[in-house]
Amino acid sequence: MKFFKPMAEEKSKKIFLVFFVLSSIFPLLIFIFISDQYLQPFIDADKSGQLGETLIYGLLVMLFFPLLSFFLMFRRIRALEGLTREIRAKSAEVIEGKKSFGEQSIEARETFLIPARGDTGNAGDENEIQSLIQSFNNIFQTAADQLAEREHLKELLAKLIALASDLTAELEPSRLFPLIISRVTEVMAVERTSLYVIDWDKRELWTKVAEGIDPIALPLGKGISGRVAETGEGINVVDAWELPYFDRSFDLINNFRTRSVLCLPVKSPTGQMIGVLQVINKKEATGFDLKDEVFMKSLASQVGIALENSFLIDEARLSFNSSISTLSATVDARHPLTAGHSLRVTEYSLLVAGEFNLDRNDIEVLRLAAILHDIGKIGIRDAVLLKEGVFTPEEREEMNTHPVKTKTILEKFHFPRNLRAVPEIAGRHHEKVNGQGYPDGLTGDRIPLGSKIIAVADVFDALTSRREYPKYDGDKTMGPGAMPLMQAISIIQKETGSYFALEVVSAFLRCLPRALRLYRGSHFAPEYVDEAIRRLAPE
Ligand SMILES: [Fe+2]
Ligand SMILES: [Fe+2]
Repeated sequence: MKFFKPMAEEKSKKIFLVFFVLSSIFPLLIFIFISDQYLQPFIDADKSGQLGETLIYGLLVMLFFPLLSFFLMFRRIRALEGLTREIRAKSAEVIEGKKSFGEQSIEARETFLIPARGDTGNAGDENEIQSLIQSFNNIFQTAADQLAEREHLKELLAKLIALASDLTAELEPSRLFPLIISRVTEVMAVERTSLYVIDWDKRELWTKVAEGIDPIALPLGKGISGRVAETGEGINVVDAWELPYFDRSFDLINNFRTRSVLCLPVKSPTGQMIGVLQVINKKEATGFDLKDEVFMKSLASQVGIALENSFLIDEARLSFNSSISTLSATVDARHPLTAGHSLRVTEYSLLVAGEFNLDRNDIEVLRLAAILHDIGKIGIRDAVLLKEGVFTPEEREEMNTHPVKTKTILEKFHFPRNLRAVPEIAGRHHEKVNGQGYPDGLTGDRIPLGSKIIAVADVFDALTSRREYPKYDGDKTMGPGAMPLMQAISIIQKETGSYFALEVVSAFLRCLPRALRLYRGSHFAPEYVDEAIRRLAPE
């Protein structure tokens, strides 16, 4: 970028020289011409001495103005040259990245007697150098402002992209809410953020303040958020207390002062009003400007996409889980004494899993495998499944096919990719670590951890629940009723290393008091578990 071409300076010098020569010589020529034509008679009359003096004064007077103009123009050209050099140097510094546009104001005041920047003085006194400096300073300043604006926009865009990717990655509604609130508070630089979801059936808005605290509801049309929800129009106000419909009760209870508020509707990708996003008290400004509004609109649309996705996934998950629970309960319900078995096995398994460092996905796989582990019993005849008393070898063989049937049935389910291990884990709940289990007689290290956890939970529930068939403790045949709790525990301990994995039993025993408390008063009579709880987890 060149502000001045070198040619321009050369040209201006030449033009000046021509002008100077003409302005100096032209009056002289006129003078000679006049003296030759009109003054010769005086010379001839021998008054030459007096006349010579007059002529010299006249000549000096005539030369004064060209010389003055020469001096002034020379000074101006010097100033222009200096200024050009300065602008070139400053531009070069910017191009080389040494300084920013903002730092490059032209400091020509001392050299050229230019007034300080910002001191506009009398506009009539400004010469072209002053206005040139002013123009260049304006150019530098404008460039600096535009660069700053560009940087600001880049920053906002990066924040928006980061927020969008964070929000779309979080599908769990219970975590999405606090995530939206914390991220919006951060990127909008505000003191507080509220997010409300509209319940059109109840005609109210609800919000979740924190995990474990009941949602807060407010009627549609009430307060700032209620109005935005009802009208679909955003509200931007510098002092909320000046609005007649603003509800001050939150401020008064919490010793808070709501000042600036920007509240916008949150719409689903199909344009349906689903919520309201509100930011309160912009830090380092009295209110929200147009840029804030535009940025917040983008945020609100990202929030809308994230909320809608999470609602859809939540609904799909609810419907999937309710189908699975119903299916599992149907199998349990074929026999009145196994009702609730799969659910209890699932609860026990999840407690044991909590003792291992499993990720969320592994836990979900375990949960589904546990709830569905006996689904294969659907293919066992009533004559076998509902038989009272001991099985014949053929009946036992048929009964033992249920894990394979579980696996086959579950393989027909369409599990999402991350849950594909469910059939395998559910189908191995009767394997034993010593390789004597079924269907494949796998040994400990080849049995999935999830199956080993379900195995302990499954046997523990069978021992501690009433069954139609007798229970065994070694060679001793017991009645069909629930075995005394400490005896059931000792059977599990005795089978450790042969039937059950040692690390799973250790984990199971650690969380057993919690498991017993979970069903104390429902599946377990208090007197059945209280003694064991005292012994296992003394206060
Ligand atoms: Fe089973
Ligand atoms: Fe079972």
